[in-house]
Amino acid sequence: MSTSCDPAVPATVSDMAAAMNARHEVQRRAALDVFERAIGFDLPDQVRSVGMMPYYRELTRNEGPVCLIDGRQAIMLGSNNYLGLTTHPAVREAAARAVLEDGPSLTGSRLLNGTTTAHTALERKVAEFFGREDALVFTTGYQANIGVMTAFASPETTVVLDRHCHASILDGVRAARAQVECFPHNDVAALDQLLDRLVEQGPCMVMVDGLYSMEGDIAPLPGIAETCRRHGVRLVVDEAHALGVLGATGHGTEEHFGCPGLADLLTGTFSKSLASIGGWVAGSARVIDWMRFFGRSMVFSASMPPAQIAAASTALDLLRAEPWRVTRVNENGQTWREGLVRAGFVVGNSVSPIVPVTVGDDFTCLIVGKALLDAGVYVNPVVYPAVPRDKAMLRTSVMATHEPHHLATALEILETVGRKVGLLKG
Ligand SMILES: Cc1ncc(COP(=O)(O)O)c(C=O)c1O
Repeated sequence: MSTSCDPAVPATVSDMAAAMNARHEVQRRAALDVFERAIGFDLPDQVRSVGMMPYYRELTRNEGPVCLIDGRQAIMLGSNNYLGLTTHPAVREAAARAVLEDGPSLTGSRLLNGTTTAHTALERKVAEFFGREDALVFTTGYQANIGVMTAFASPETTVVLDRHCHASILDGVRAARAQVECFPHNDVAALDQLLDRLVEQGPCMVMVDGLYSMEGDIAPLPGIAETCRRHGVRLVVDEAHALGVLGATGHGTEEHFGCPGLADLLTGTFSKSLASIGGWVAGSARVIDWMRFFGRSMVFSASMPPAQIAAASTALDLLRAEPWRVTRVNENGQTWREGLVRAGFVVGNSVSPIVPVTVGDDFTCLIVGKALLDAGVYVNPVVYPAVPRDKAMLRTSVMATHEPHHLATALEILETVGRKVGLLKG
């Protein structure tokens, strides 16, 4: 096996792909010793040994359009910092002030000693931003989705999900011990058929992402909402990636379609456009209040710390005050996507600043990711099981603060590497 990361060594690809497949099998095997699968799982060591491990990579600095890794700069095309607000002085100063004045942790759950006036003020701000009666702030976006499912789904409930929904939603369904049914991605007719059958059998709810984090495409929300309404089923929309990105002023998928208030409940995160960490849910007052008491991730986990509250709140103010950032990230997305298409890359159905580049084979994807990094571009290789076999891709995403020269340089590098590995002809 070659240890070179030169993309001009595809002879090792099939060997490595076979080794990777064999090691995925180890993961599936059941054993009496619950650690046995872990002990046999040496795929990470294999990938590290050929210098291809793209995950848990240590970044010295990650927050700008250019990041720093091992003392070298790379154009950052792998973050969710869509509006570039993690570098904004007002966000940083607010977070620093909060940690100095209010401490690093509240050491308790929201239910008990972990609610401050800052939490409640942020909840008011989120509710107002989305035109809802009330909102609830969780410690992460993951926990917000667990909270929704544990509050509203039970073993009698069928939760109907788009097949590409985020893992946190599925984990929430499992935590609620509810039943799950999936419909093909963005297929409203299939959702309709599924609900025709399921609503006869018991309580149902539907959940979709607004903007899909891997494909960069958008849920057909008007059709989905109309279908849910016709069947008398509640619709929850995860706006994690849509907030700050979709709609002229970044209000998300409802604004994108010009239909405010379409969803019964919105969830999301502060960890992408809003330069912090934490989750939120926005909806009608009684529904939100129910979650305060029955969302297990709300009740049984410590609350969002002061610095993160301050950062999220300031970033939300900046999103309102500086809508040019929403325009810029979308313009940059268009420039980037069109450049990739012109060069001959396959980018799927993306219509947003998230642009997947199809690669196919897992090991080739790791090779390309490493070659790009060596040449000064950071992207996220996504391989099986995160995507189906032979559907490996590079997830790329742009920020409002990328300048034209960043995107032009990155595209040149992608073209050079793409030609070397045979993704591009000529
Ligand atoms: C669609 C979606 N929902 C929820 C989450 C979870 O958010 P957080 O990172 O704040 O836990 C993510 C994060 O990757 C996401 O992409």
